[in-house]
Amino acid sequence: MREGQTAVTRRLDYAPPAFWIDTVDLSIDLDPAKTRVLSKLTVRRNPDVPAQPLKLDGDELNLARVLLDGAGCSFRMEGEQLVLENLPEGDAPFALEIFTTCSPEKNSKLMGLFMSGGDFFTQCESEGFRRITYFLDRPDVMATYTVTLRADKQRWPVLLSNGNLVDAGELEGGRHYATWHDPHKKPCYLFAVVAGKLVAREQRITTRSGNNHLLQVWVRPGDLDQTEHAMNSLVHAILWDEWRFGLKLDLERFMVVATSDFNFGAMENKGLNIFNSKYVLAKPATATDADFEAIEGVIGHEYFHNWTGDRVTCRDWFQLSLKEGLTVFRDQSFSMDMAGTASARAVKRIGDVITLRTVQFAEDAGPMAHPVRPDEYLEITNFYTTTIYEKGAEVVRMVETLLGREGFRRGLDLYFQRHDGHAVTCDDFIQTMADATPGSALAERLPQFKLWYSQAGTPVVRAQGHYDAAAQTYTLQLSQSCPPTAGQPAKQPMLIPLRLGLVGLDGRDLPLTLQGGALLHGDVVVLHEPAATLVFSGVTQEPVPSLLRGFSAPVKLQMEATPEQLMHRLAHDSDPFNRWEAGQQLALRVALAQLAAGGEVAPAPLSDAHLAALRAVLRDAALDAAFKALALGLPGESYIADQLPGNVDPQRIHAVREAMRRQLAHALRADWQWAWEHNHDTGAYTPDPVSSGRRALAGLALAMLCLAADGDAVWPGKAYQRVKDAGNMTDRENALQALLGCGHPLAARALEGFYARFSHEALVVDKWFALQARAPDVAGSALPAVLALMQHPDFTLKNPNRARSLLFGFCSGNPAGFHRLDGAGYTFWAGQVLALDAINPQVAARLARTMDAWARLAEPWRGAAREAIARVAAQPKLSNDVREVVTRALA
Ligand code: ARG
Ligand code: ZN
Repeated sequence: MREGQTAVTRRLDYAPPAFWIDTVDLSIDLDPAKTRVLSKLTVRRNPDVPAQPLKLDGDELNLARVLLDGAGCSFRMEGEQLVLENLPEGDAPFALEIFTTCSPEKNSKLMGLFMSGGDFFTQCESEGFRRITYFLDRPDVMATYTVTLRADKQRWPVLLSNGNLVDAGELEGGRHYATWHDPHKKPCYLFAVVAGKLVAREQRITTRSGNNHLLQVWVRPGDLDQTEHAMNSLVHAILWDEWRFGLKLDLERFMVVATSDFNFGAMENKGLNIFNSKYVLAKPATATDADFEAIEGVIGHEYFHNWTGDRVTCRDWFQLSLKEGLTVFRDQSFSMDMAGTASARAVKRIGDVITLRTVQFAEDAGPMAHPVRPDEYLEITNFYTTTIYEKGAEVVRMVETLLGREGFRRGLDLYFQRHDGHAVTCDDFIQTMADATPGSALAERLPQFKLWYSQAGTPVVRAQGHYDAAAQTYTLQLSQSCPPTAGQPAKQPMLIPLRLGLVGLDGRDLPLTLQGGALLHGDVVVLHEPAATLVFSGVTQEPVPSLLRGFSAPVKLQMEATPEQLMHRLAHDSDPFNRWEAGQQLALRVALAQLAAGGEVAPAPLSDAHLAALRAVLRDAALDAAFKALALGLPGESYIADQLPGNVDPQRIHAVREAMRRQLAHALRADWQWAWEHNHDTGAYTPDPVSSGRRALAGLALAMLCLAADGDAVWPGKAYQRVKDAGNMTDRENALQALLGCGHPLAARALEGFYARFSHEALVVDKWFALQARAPDVAGSALPAVLALMQHPDFTLKNPNRARSLLFGFCSGNPAGFHRLDGAGYTFWAGQVLALDAINPQVAARLARTMDAWARLAEPWRGAAREAIARVAAQPKLSNDVREVVTRALA
């Protein structure tokens, strides 16, 4: 699609392709300025579709020649499409040869063939292959690929593509070549090429089924010492998928390659996964616990795509969640299993739910709300969202809850039996899961469950409980609703699995006996009506209800609860997720009360009982440090904003949360000191859940102690010292953040020292920018600091990681600094969106989305925000990516 053109693509307009492409033989002469691509295709008509011209997609290509069965032929251009009309009749295959050139060094969009650090990489999902050659660039056209790469041998000694290396050798003029053949049919979005000065960590593995594989992690020569964790994660992922789902690696060779210029996290190209270096490279000195964890998750994610994505792929891009939701569910399950203990699993679950609730719930309530299976798009890249990924994963998780672990496995087995090698739909997936489990709660109400794919918005479940001491019954009244979203004014009731328990006086769960019905797996209610009344009998004492355990459905639960009930659950709930959630609810209620009150923000809004409850958690010897760090953390500002009906005053939210944080710091000072002393020394670094949990708690304690220092230099001094001599990046970054967070003058020197030490580690320099972008806005200092950082020699908008670290760090990670009363934050945002759009529309559109919630802001923010968005929308040369985001925002 050319700039200025707009065309909406609709799901219901899907039509099968008029032609099939069976084989692709690519010859690519790599050259930064002008890469030559010769594509030989075997094409045949799709007999099921009426005869029509062949229209091949292209984007920013130079066309040199087209041959049909070896001879010149007529063709014409229709926009960027290459149209061939006079093709042989009948179903017999014919040969097309298309010769084009493109310019990787000019490719700042990082889609198609691009350069990073002098090396060549590709990114084809969703529609990048058309930037390499003319093709039917749609996922339901699957072909067998043979690829020959040619390049200068000295500059690009390593030549990689999908599948197996079948030939390699020298050419004249210092060039060399390599030929790769991929035995598996694939859609073109899974095609990949890498050429560069790279080295590999290699490992051979024998799986439980006795097969041998060569695993490689390719990086730039200096980075080999940072590949061990990625390789271990890959080995674990391979073993896990075979153990848990019986899914085996189907290639002799499996490669992972890191690049420092990448629009997203990583890409599951068949046998040749390409990664943002952020999700491959790690050593204790430069990567944090969070980085180590993310690497395991993303390596797992891309590997798991080999089955859920590559072997079974999407029919069209509206089905994106077919592969992404399922694969996120798989990587989350993998990380949980790797975490081990029940507590560590819960910590992982809590982290995933925090992401879902802060990012996806906001998306579902904003201008970009869309169903898990969207109905239309202007630019598909805008739909790689938390709704498709994380909400999609929750939908799969609900399927597992409804079917049980065994039933889910049976369903997946049937899914691969039926659909292996095909491009299918979300309907195919869910139908298969139901077919494999007749009589299951899913099979019984399949049409209703499918609403999770078609209805946008976050459902609200209201619950009310009543205890009848005389009858010894506990009655729970449930009702559900779903707010209107763009194009969907009225919603139907959904199928909602609610895991629940009744907590007794002693903190233990009471037995659950449901009158006139049975609970799924003993503790799950399947709510399908708009309203339902459940009566539990034999309840011998007034219980405290614990609903939505484990966050069993992606809904907002509204239930009255007294502070005493919440504290009881914070102290005792047998479900660790809900134990944490009780603490969040407690804090949220305090924040909301403060926001509703008006007037001065109370300096100490937390009650003594509340503080005592938190202290008890902090001191509880039976709890893991990681859980404590989460339970003592306050809900984020955007999550608090989400709970308000509108008229969001971001400065007041910030002030209220800060008051709570300061009070928590002061009131628990002795406890923080105790927590610090018991957790700050974790010995030789390993990224395991226990020691990373201890580092997290020590980091929180240090931040609290610095915050409570009140002019005393002891704790800021300790933090400063730790920035200088910490043995790993987690402790070092936490200490730096603690110093920045309390606004201590030592922070500036600490930042300088940090930069001097790591200025040659790009991923650490990203952290250095991000930390400053998020630093507290003391007297309006945040924006000027960001503007100054943009002048830093290391800053560039061209590198997505760098641009994200500073711009996203400020626009979404620093609400108090961004939402200025004078609107200057928004003006800055508009300028950066436009500057980025000229370079890389995908990254620009992501930045544009940081203003999604503008309409809920109070004045004067609302007016200023609208003006800034309108300024962007008024630009005549906008990409479709940014245009779609800002038009929806203003609609
Ligand atoms: N499939 C990749 C992954 O989830 C992400 C590709 C993103 N592509 C895009 N056009 N946004 O692992
Ligand atoms: Zn994915």
